[in-house]
Amino acid sequence: VKSVRVELAGAAYTVAVGRGLIDRAGALLHADLPAGRVLLVSDVQVAGLYFERAAAALRAAGYAVESTVVPAGEQSKSLASYGRLLETMARARLDRADAVVALGGGVVSDLTGFAAATYRRGLAWAVLPTTLVAMVDAGIGGKTAINLPQGKNLVGCFHQPRAVVCDLDLLRTLPAEQWIEGLAEVAKIAILLDPDLFARLEAEPERGLAGDLDYLEPIAVRAAELKAAVVARDPQEAGERALLNLGHTFAHGLEAARGPRPAHGIAVLLGLIAAARLARALEALSMDDARRIEALAGAWLRRVPLPPLDLERAWEAMGSDKKTVAGRMRLVVPRAIGRAELRSDVAADAARAALDSLAEL
Ligand SMILES: NC(=O)c1ccc[n+]([C@@H]2O[C@H](COP(=O)([O-])OP(=O)(O)OC[C@H]3O[C@@H](n4cnc5c(N)ncnc54)[C@H](O)[C@@H]3O)[C@@H](O)[C@H]2O)c1
Ligand SMILES: [Zn+2]
Repeated sequence: VKSVRVELAGAAYTVAVGRGLIDRAGALLHADLPAGRVLLVSDVQVAGLYFERAAAALRAAGYAVESTVVPAGEQSKSLASYGRLLETMARARLDRADAVVALGGGVVSDLTGFAAATYRRGLAWAVLPTTLVAMVDAGIGGKTAINLPQGKNLVGCFHQPRAVVCDLDLLRTLPAEQWIEGLAEVAKIAILLDPDLFARLEAEPERGLAGDLDYLEPIAVRAAELKAAVVARDPQEAGERALLNLGHTFAHGLEAARGPRPAHGIAVLLGLIAAARLARALEALSMDDARRIEALAGAWLRRVPLPPLDLERAWEAMGSDKKTVAGRMRLVVPRAIGRAELRSDVAADAARAALDSLAEL
């Protein structure tokens, strides 16, 4: 087991990453999550696979376990699901001495964390992530959120978990199309902070996509360390944490397509390519580094079906995000593999050209 610390003053916690951890989850949480009762929250798909084992592990550590299950998928990050979850907590008479545990991907952790943050002005919570996205990104850092019909993640708050336990063995059942979702975020953080991690990804892109756990374990540990370090340096996203939006302004635009929408990870990889091309146009990035970013994203994208891109709508969505001021945009621009900067002076025309260039991959 690797213990990754999120060093936050007064709210530090550990992200344990390893294999075979789920059956010891109660023991692993116990020191950091003192509670009589815990409400274990999952989605139906994950619950069918792992609920019993997680609940048994929690009971074995002395917790009284209540449980609830939400539908799988983004629709569970809704006001309605949030309301039902709060009512479940109230019916179970959870009080401030109790806790909540999320077992699932980013949907379950975002929803559960927000309910934990707001019920009775805040209960302790912990995360048992079951997707690569949740292990390296969503489960770490305490950003919680639900969606409104008007947009994603519009309601939420920061509420750090007390502990995170990542059992990579749970990823054996991950649907094949989910690997690229996590890998896209790993590639993003590698471009931001870690040339060595990037080199490992580009050396064997197919092993990542195939979900080879021997290959992915050290990669997940490193990605979790990097995310934890960013969170510790900037817990409330006052500065550096905003760099985690690399590729995401383009991605969110692409995800606004009128027709079939690309999955988030696919949109992020396309966004990383657009960001690299933009950086070239701004003379901020070497040709060689831009090529390497394109090559890695391209190696993964070639192996998945791509929907037609709605570049017109993407540009509309990017412009309407209050992101354009007097023809200038705020965008994260890579400077090298391992370094990027947030710029607020990017000419909208240059961003548009980078987006439109995605018509040719
Ligand atoms: N809070 C943050 O900092 C942060 C960061 C990144 C993403 N997010 C959020 O995370 C969400 C996406 O999370 P996600 O990619 O984990 O998706 P997800 O939670 O929807 O999970 C993807 C699918 O895989 C299934 N699944 C999960 N684990 C499984 C397993 N081990 N075996 C079999 N099936 C499994 C789920 O039931 C679901 O159908 C988005 O809502 C996004 O906004 C939040
Ligand atoms: Zn993302």
